[in-house]
Amino acid sequence: TVEVPSLSKVYEEYFNIGAAVNLTTIKSQKDLLRKHFNSITAENDMKFIEIQPAEGKFTFEKADQLAAFAKEHGMKMRGHTLVWHNQTPEWVFQNADRETLLQRMKNHITTVMQRYKGTIFCWDVVNEAVTDEGPELLRSTKWLEIIGEDYIEKAFEFAHEADPDALLFYNDYNESNPEKREKIFKLVKSLVDKGVPIHGVGLQAHWNLVNPSLEDIRTAIERYVSLGLKLHLTELDVSVFNFEDKRTDLTEPTHEMLELQAERYHQVFQLLRQYQNHITSVTFWGAADDYTWLSDFPVRGRKNWPFLFDENHQPKESFWKVVHY
Ligand code: XIL
Repeated sequence: TVEVPSLSKVYEEYFNIGAAVNLTTIKSQKDLLRKHFNSITAENDMKFIEIQPAEGKFTFEKADQLAAFAKEHGMKMRGHTLVWHNQTPEWVFQNADRETLLQRMKNHITTVMQRYKGTIFCWDVVNEAVTDEGPELLRSTKWLEIIGEDYIEKAFEFAHEADPDALLFYNDYNESNPEKREKIFKLVKSLVDKGVPIHGVGLQAHWNLVNPSLEDIRTAIERYVSLGLKLHLTELDVSVFNFEDKRTDLTEPTHEMLELQAERYHQVFQLLRQYQNHITSVTFWGAADDYTWLSDFPVRGRKNWPFLFDENHQPKESFWKVVHY
């Protein structure tokens, strides 16, 4: 039998290795998480709708259990997420003018961040505010509609006041797409130029076997690095299905998929290691192939196998390529 090295130990000198978790996986994947990961993110349990489903009614039970897991096992924890257009309850925007909504935003950010002060070292303060298509910079959301463009800087200001020690991130997907990349760059640069307290850019990194290209990933990293901020990969997964692949009948990944995935992970981590002064955390959006949100997205019920560990928590070819570089 071969010794399986700890992923987070192998990468100790480079960056933290994180996993998104929930109350099920901290049990079912406990040993794997403890061995290979030194950071966690709540997959859903710290989102607005989970933590404040009704005004002033804070429900921290699940989030607290995840925070306790991190503490108990000496792991770091990323906070995800405070201001987003998804998984935010209706009441937040009801009968809200600018001042009311700012007040609700501030109250949420302050209450949540102060509760996890000292446990959560960084927060995705604003998630996915940039639009994918068209000439517009910002996604049209209730936050934008009711408050105006400065909702983003307000969120960062409230966050900084709530926990001056926390690292504050702007987080987005399609971050390596050239058009979206420039929009994200423009938004974050405007925040930096205004002196808004922002410390990092989160690259969600929901990738597949071919997209985005390694060159596009490199260019995106270079571009964000030029802002002088930290970078985190916040939600890394490598889907075995490329965009045009519509198959829904696979019960296991093909040999070819696993080979391509291993080569892909090999190249990606080789690239990430070159930015060790800038990339300080790499979080997978899960830990092993027995559980991934991709088995329901973008195709409902289509199983996917995006991680370094298989359904039985055994290292895949991808894992070996990442640790034996
Ligand atoms: C996803 C979760 O994994 C799912 O369980 C949930 O149903 C929807 O949200 N970008 C993000 C994450 O910032 O919060 C999303 O997580 C995945 C895309």
